[in-house]
Amino acid sequence: NTNYLIAPSILSADLARLGEDVERVIQAGADVVHFDVMDNHYVPNLTFGPMVCRALREYGITAPIDVHLMVKPVDSLIPDFAKAGANIITFHPEASEHIDRTISLIKDHGCQAGLVFNPATPLHYLDHVMDKLDVILLMSVNPGFGGQSFIPHTLDKLRQVRTLIDNSGKDIRLEVDGGVKVDNIAQVAAAGADMFVAGSAIFNQPDYQEVITQMRQQLSK
Ligand code: DX5
Ligand code: ZN
Repeated sequence: NTNYLIAPSILSADLARLGEDVERVIQAGADVVHFDVMDNHYVPNLTFGPMVCRALREYGITAPIDVHLMVKPVDSLIPDFAKAGANIITFHPEASEHIDRTISLIKDHGCQAGLVFNPATPLHYLDHVMDKLDVILLMSVNPGFGGQSFIPHTLDKLRQVRTLIDNSGKDIRLEVDGGVKVDNIAQVAAAGADMFVAGSAIFNQPDYQEVITQMRQQLSK
């Protein structure tokens, strides 16, 4: 009876027809648009910024937009993304000089805030900020590229964070990002995730609705 969210990563969308492709994946039953921002500095790749987020809003996309900031520094982009239509903004704690300040900045701009943990980033970053978070995102691949394989150790980390969230009594989403597909989504959910990013697994198939339906079937088992 968990309310699961499926968040296609537009990193794997048809970038030359982004509006249409995002529209199509939302029509196919996706809940949230996962928007990967890479700066060729914090991560080795370069994607898109607030202007592209705004363009999706102007195109008519009304679904929540989940902005995953893989950038350093972080803070200067937050007001721009909030104005461009972001709903959730997550960032990597090691990319921020002042984690508490960055979280406050996101919330002061009316967005939900989340911390992102790379596969080897320790969870102690949660220690003093847990009660300010709306989302905790665990990377199940090293950030920078779509189409990588799920790192199995993430399942242990998900279970640890699920316990922390349950003990906190707070309503915090546990999002997972990287290598999620129909074949492993049930296992990832069983470890405690309730929000699933999937890029290549959805956009590399011709029928998005079929993939999303299969994912939901896995989640309802
Ligand atoms: C990786 C990105 C992911 C990526 C996921 O740095 O944060 O969102 O697009 O792609 P898949 O689902 O193909 O692993
Ligand atoms: Zn991402």
